Amino acid sequence: MNNVELKNFLDALPYPGLSRTLGELKLVDSTRIDETKATIVLSTVSDESYLSVKQAILNTLSNRFSTIDVQQKLAPAKDINYGSTATPNNRAPYAKNIIAVTSGKGGVGKSTLSVNIAVGLAQKGYKVGLLDADIYGPNTPRMLGIELERMRWNDENKIIPSENFGIKVMSVGLTTPAEDTPLVWRSSVAVSALIQFLEDVAWGNLDFMVIDMPPGTGDIQLTMAEELPITTAVMVTTPQTVATDDVSRAIRMYQDIHVPMAGIVENMSYFIAPDTLKRYDIFGVGGGALVAKKYGLKLLGEIPLTIDAREASDEGKPAIAMGSDVLKESYRKIVDEILKEKNIRI
Ligand SMILES: Nc1ncnc2c1ncn2[C@@H]1O[C@H](COP(=O)(O)OP(=O)(O)OP(=O)(O)O)[C@@H](O)[C@H]1O
Ligand SMILES: [Mg+2]
Repeated sequence: MNNVELKNFLDALPYPGLSRTLGELKLVDSTRIDETKATIVLSTVSDESYLSVKQAILNTLSNRFSTIDVQQKLAPAKDINYGSTATPNNRAPYAKNIIAVTSGKGGVGKSTLSVNIAVGLAQKGYKVGLLDADIYGPNTPRMLGIELERMRWNDENKIIPSENFGIKVMSVGLTTPAEDTPLVWRSSVAVSALIQFLEDVAWGNLDFMVIDMPPGTGDIQLTMAEELPITTAVMVTTPQTVATDDVSRAIRMYQDIHVPMAGIVENMSYFIAPDTLKRYDIFGVGGGALVAKKYGLKLLGEIPLTIDAREASDEGKPAIAMGSDVLKESYRKIVDEILKEKNIRI
């Protein structure tokens, strides 16, 4: 194997646990071969990701070289990579800021939080668009009470986004014949649909585009980071360990693809019984704070598990606008914390 073959081999190697290769994520910085020794320099950001990629390399190449020296290039200073993946496209030049709401895990409250962040920013007078990037489980139309609306076009052949609570919304849920039609698209079709939502929707000029990401760390998250200069990402978790494990994976991925993160929101933090007002820590205590500390991120806020939070999203009444005072306050604090993020331009 010569050096070019080694570089090509590494570029084609899958990143452990993701549907992308090291080459696609631009993680192989350089390679060198001296007789039977290979030196490989990785530009991974977190130590954990360096260790897992290194292990994958050693597993596949150990029989080819007598020594394999896998090194980690010093992490570049944060603002050199300001914005996103190395050189992301910008499919949404009309948006001043792009906020991605994400998590490695499903059902932790990403959509509920996205809706409330978007409405909260609109309440402050900003022009806000909400893009539902969950192609297979689009929930935002119901959470905003627009699930019966269907797509319309304007005279310039652009899709007219739906509007409610002062925000513009686009979701695949508005494109299907009925709100519960299941989609069985291949992932490449799903990705093209999202790009069309960025390019062919009459968003107008936006101060903020909030993106409600699907669960997981797959194609859609990576494509969004490649196609948009994400200003900042908000990671959602619940306190229990399985959820924090999944969110850790998502954090490492975002670090590696250079997406800045505003911090972590812990949702369903605790339950307050409506009758006795007693607090129950159903999912344990402090999971969000621990993850935040581990990765040097801010804990942006904690949202209690309440019956009215669930009812509010089922009934299309965002809690930040129509919920109890406790919920309004929890969401507003998060919106204020996001606005303090240094990358935000307003
Ligand atoms: N703080 C909360 N208290 C009570 N219920 C909540 C709370 N946050 C979210 N829920 C409920 O939990 C369910 C899942 O929330 P949501 O759809 O926002 O999660 P998600 O992470 O977007 O899920 P998915 O991964 O499926 O997209 C919803 O029924 C929602 O109403
Ligand atoms: Mg969702």
